[in-house]
Amino acid sequence: MKVLVTGGAGYIGSHTCIELIKNGYEIVVVDNFVNSHPKAVERVKKITGVDFPFYDMDLLDAPALDNVCKAHKIDCIVHFAGLKAVGESVAKPLEYYENNLCSTMNLLKTMADYDIRHMVFSSSATVYSGDNPMPLTEDSNRGCINPYGWTKYMCEQIISDWVAAKENASAVLLRYFNPIGAHESGLIGDDPAGIPNNLLPYITQAAAGKLPELPVTGADYDTPDGTGIRDYLHVTDLAAGHVAAIKFAEKNKNAHAFNLGTGKGVSVFEMIHAFEKVNGVKVPYRVVDRRPGDQPVSFADPSKATKLLNWQTEKSLEEALGDMWRWQTNNPNGYTG
Ligand code: NAD
Ligand code: UD1
Repeated sequence: MKVLVTGGAGYIGSHTCIELIKNGYEIVVVDNFVNSHPKAVERVKKITGVDFPFYDMDLLDAPALDNVCKAHKIDCIVHFAGLKAVGESVAKPLEYYENNLCSTMNLLKTMADYDIRHMVFSSSATVYSGDNPMPLTEDSNRGCINPYGWTKYMCEQIISDWVAAKENASAVLLRYFNPIGAHESGLIGDDPAGIPNNLLPYITQAAAGKLPELPVTGADYDTPDGTGIRDYLHVTDLAAGHVAAIKFAEKNKNAHAFNLGTGKGVSVFEMIHAFEKVNGVKVPYRVVDRRPGDQPVSFADPSKATKLLNWQTEKSLEEALGDMWRWQTNNPNGYTG
């Protein structure tokens, strides 16, 4: 089976390429490196020992996408490509809507042209509104507070409508919680451009002395230690979820949403202490004001994925934090060092 991986040079995409190859899939990868580096692709080839076709290509370029699908008989698309920085999406909403929605629509049109029947889409827990009891199920209320979130919400709708209109088509909408960690080789990992937005890359860079200290954005929430609680899963477990999703899409028509998370919440302070313990390093931090728009608590009910995808997380928080630190120390400047 041949899988087109869009955004395969990115953080989650590169880890998923490895899982796909390990599970016997042939892959074709496209990425325009707007938020990634060619070295990620080289390293996936090095880790797997498998060469695969790669196209440096923008998904907004419909003729180029057409050429890729003409050259390869694709059976399924795993669609990671997208812009993902929440703050940037507020400043540049049209760029986000254009990139994330138009690339998805180009892919769906190409799927129709080449009779590609299955798509696995990178959605996010960000599609859930802030008024839900925890844990979040796939039926929890949805609603977003920034353009990035709305692009995920709208793509889910567009893909679902397209699948409903097409006989034999199916889609799996994977709502990721908070991916962390890196491949155990230390060769690939999260390489955010500039100052990280997410907690874990910030912790590793503060521990490495690249950033002076971690700003803990709020310690006055109504949580046991006052800091925000999230559901952090190892990126390799998340990658394995895509293999399970492809198998499900092959057997089930229509569009189906799944939460991918551990089901457990971890606070910012718990994360700092766990990181220090696992890696034997100090994480300098300072409590600052809350980040606008942040929820106090967010964690998944992943039971639908366990039941229907036969998927659950396997790696511990400690493994993720060790892998993250290995990636940071082996690659102090990410892929550009
Ligand atoms: P990433 O930025 O590392 O990877 C996305 C890749 O898509 C990048 O390599 C980028 O260059 C590429 N890309 C973007 N627009 C493109 C275009 N028009 N044409 C071709 N390539 C393009 O991000 P990631 O963390 O690996 O996330 C993958 C997907 O999962 C994204 O859609 C993201 O929104 C979603 N997601 C991520 C998280 C997270 O915490 N990392 C959480 C929930 C959902
Ligand atoms: C972020 C994104 C969200 C995306 C999710 C998964 C924002 C506003 N939201 O949410 O759209 O779906 O990642 O990738 O960016 N924290 C600190 N200091 C920091 C950074 C974060 O204390 O420098 C805290 C936050 O307040 C939060 C926790 O750490 O309690 C996790 O933050 P983060 O990694 O940004 O994830 P999300 O808030 O879930």
